[in-house]
Amino acid sequence: MIAKPKGTYDLIDIDAKIYQYIVDVINEYMTYYNYEFVRTPIFEDSSLFHRSVGEASDIVTKETYDFTDRGGRNITLRPEGTAGVVRSLIENKLYGNRNDTLKYYYLGTMYRYERPQAGRYRELTQFGVEVFNSNDPLIDAEVISLGYNLLKELGIENFTVHLNSLGDEETRTNYIKALKEYLKPYLNDLCEDCRTRYEKNPLRILDCKVDKDSQVFQNMPNILDYLSDDAKLRLEKLKSLLTMLEVDYEIDSKLVRGIDYYDYHVWEYISDDSGLALGAGGRYNSLVKTLDGPDMPAIGFGIGIDRLIGEIKKNLEDRPMPHNVDVYIMCVNEEEKIYGETLAQSLRLNRVITEINSNNLSLKSQFKVADNLNAKQLIILNSEDLQKGLVNIKDNATKEEVKIDENEVIDYLISNI
Ligand code: HAM
Repeated sequence: MIAKPKGTYDLIDIDAKIYQYIVDVINEYMTYYNYEFVRTPIFEDSSLFHRSVGEASDIVTKETYDFTDRGGRNITLRPEGTAGVVRSLIENKLYGNRNDTLKYYYLGTMYRYERPQAGRYRELTQFGVEVFNSNDPLIDAEVISLGYNLLKELGIENFTVHLNSLGDEETRTNYIKALKEYLKPYLNDLCEDCRTRYEKNPLRILDCKVDKDSQVFQNMPNILDYLSDDAKLRLEKLKSLLTMLEVDYEIDSKLVRGIDYYDYHVWEYISDDSGLALGAGGRYNSLVKTLDGPDMPAIGFGIGIDRLIGEIKKNLEDRPMPHNVDVYIMCVNEEEKIYGETLAQSLRLNRVITEINSNNLSLKSQFKVADNLNAKQLIILNSEDLQKGLVNIKDNATKEEVKIDENEVIDYLISNI
């Protein structure tokens, strides 16, 4: 009998049912949040991962499945999904002349030559989202809350969002310098891996599982003390938005990621029971440019479906799959945007397909985006009305406008879409 390869498993019986349930919920959520599905190849040119995930990362140095094909090309089975989506964005010029936010999601198998153990496989399935062309902390909050809401929807309650900021390049240069100076006298006390990281990838030392409880680690400099003014401001904005969206999070200044492309915010959804990351993500504003694309900010996360299967014991539910956007929220200033994002979340959680301007578009462009989305109702926020507790709603077909008490907005929209 031929057995399956080490680190793989067959998706059968109840696991298969749960998998399908997860996929249904993901597809439904992606409709409400207005993300487009994308599929990229399972194998890519090896250099794609060297240039994105990072030459010195554990994934590239120890975990990729590499081979030479019959035509002599260097090929790698994808260890993660972001690099392929970015390659596709650039190669297909998906960014075109667009000034709105581009939102993609994918679902598929990835391959990592890891030591198999509970929740760690060599063939893993990830659901991921990648959002391009918005550098607004509003979208950071939306992306983090999307993963958070999705896990809750799937019945997973025992997890915590760990959040950190790796700042910009200036932040990291200053921090790495301080970290190396601090660690220099203790080099011989560090584990072997950390001694290598000290030279090649010092930030990864923060992630060491061997030395994490030692005195040297406890007193290490804190990256949050090195954030540039811009990075500090972004983190503060994000924190208040997450609070508005009712996302429980904790700041974890030791959180660094095993992938090199991140800057600013990084986060993980960590299971309180197993301590495993159910998902993880971050901002990566330089990657599109590094891979020869335009200078375009981006953010995303990946969730390990295999890990979710173990956590879920729920029945499948039938859900409708609508196609277009029910409501488009128009906003211009900061107050309107924050109000709008909270309202968007409430509508989405009430099964109303909702989109919001997250790109500082002019009102004129927002009307166009709403039309492209076939929005049935427009919420045109303005600070003056909001101060009176009123929300302005326009029927996009009849063009009739009404001002509704803010407590009645959701009921009004549900009965008018
Ligand atoms: P990652 O942290 O390497 O990030 O993986 C994301 C998630 O995939 C993990 O949190 C975990 O749930 C799951 N996962 C990773 N390795 C394994 C494994 N060997 N077995 C089972 N599950 C696993 C990324 O891959 C980034 N591409 C995420 C991202 C998207 N960042 C920005 N956009």
